[in-house]
Amino acid sequence: MDLNNTAQMKEYDPKNMLNQVYSLPELIEVLLSRDFTIPSHIKTDKFEVSYVEKPNSIIICGMGGSAVSGDYVKVIFPLQIPVTVIRNYNLPKFVGKDTLVCLVSYSGNTEETLSCLLLALEKGCPVVGISSGGYITRFFEENSLPHFEIPGGFQPRAAFPLIFLALVKIFQSFDMISLQGTAIDELLYNLRDIRDQCRPDVNLPENSAKNTAMNLFQKIPVIWAPYGCVANRIKCQFNENSKMLAISEELPELNHNHIVGWEGYEKNDYPFLVLAIRFPTEHQYVRLRFEISKRIVSPKCELIEVHGKGVHLLSQLLSVTYLFDFISIYLAMLNHKDPSTVSSIDYLKRELEERKQTQSKVIEALQRLS
Ligand code: PA5
Repeated sequence: MDLNNTAQMKEYDPKNMLNQVYSLPELIEVLLSRDFTIPSHIKTDKFEVSYVEKPNSIIICGMGGSAVSGDYVKVIFPLQIPVTVIRNYNLPKFVGKDTLVCLVSYSGNTEETLSCLLLALEKGCPVVGISSGGYITRFFEENSLPHFEIPGGFQPRAAFPLIFLALVKIFQSFDMISLQGTAIDELLYNLRDIRDQCRPDVNLPENSAKNTAMNLFQKIPVIWAPYGCVANRIKCQFNENSKMLAISEELPELNHNHIVGWEGYEKNDYPFLVLAIRFPTEHQYVRLRFEISKRIVSPKCELIEVHGKGVHLLSQLLSVTYLFDFISIYLAMLNHKDPSTVSSIDYLKRELEERKQTQSKVIEALQRLS
């Protein structure tokens, strides 16, 4: 596979995920210009929710590419109230009428997220939906509940910045966060800069995303980052786009477990490659820990450093995340895989539905509420 051959690259990316990712800066601008308002009260025959009071806690429910946005919001916009990301069927016990529950599903049909919607309504929680269609869109529209529509036609994980900014807009509408114009300008500038350098017609060796993908070919990426959400997101992109296993670790925590694991390996035992994701905002002791950790691991394994760009945390985290969107797609091509397909996820969903009608049951229960 030749990453300088655009015709060959298209063969492995028939749904054009590269183009989806490329189009994000403009879509972000459009999304940010949209108004989003929260109603004060919704009462139907079956349920009643109030948005009047400020929430005393927030739950963000979602799976996979949709859940990641919650992790990033927590880090980039720390709030005065607890924010919990739920990747499961159930809500925590503390959830009540003062808990804002955000239901995030790009497809709008993910059963774990639908199950959380049902439980949130049963508990009378104010709910907000984010989706590009599917049952979530339908349910929120039918019941006049607040819903943020995301542009369709993406793979959920490719739409990550849009889902993330929809969450930001929702929190803004509750006056819980403020988004500075300078932070947005910096973000857009850096995203455009990255895509200009990484777009498919920029050849090797100038294209840094292609270079990193080449370095990672037939390796097992071990991602170290001082923000766990970034390490996890990159891991998931390697899993879903590139169809390969990867390890994600957060600093300083990795210094208390993962680092010891390296004692069991000699040089080149396995084709690991450590990706150290660095940020200007990392704690000074974390910086030192990176240096010492590198010294421990570098005799055994190759290590590449990649840096988040920008002054604001928003740009630092999203720029490096965006770069890895490109890297993971190029790596998929090198692996002769289509970055858009997720056959195992589809298979799981089909099996669950066939064996226990897991999704239909939760939709039926929601229909009874509608
Ligand atoms: O990126 C993906 O395709 C997956 O991780 C999905 O996000 C995950 O399966 C959940 O689906 P959805 O985002 O549509 O709720």
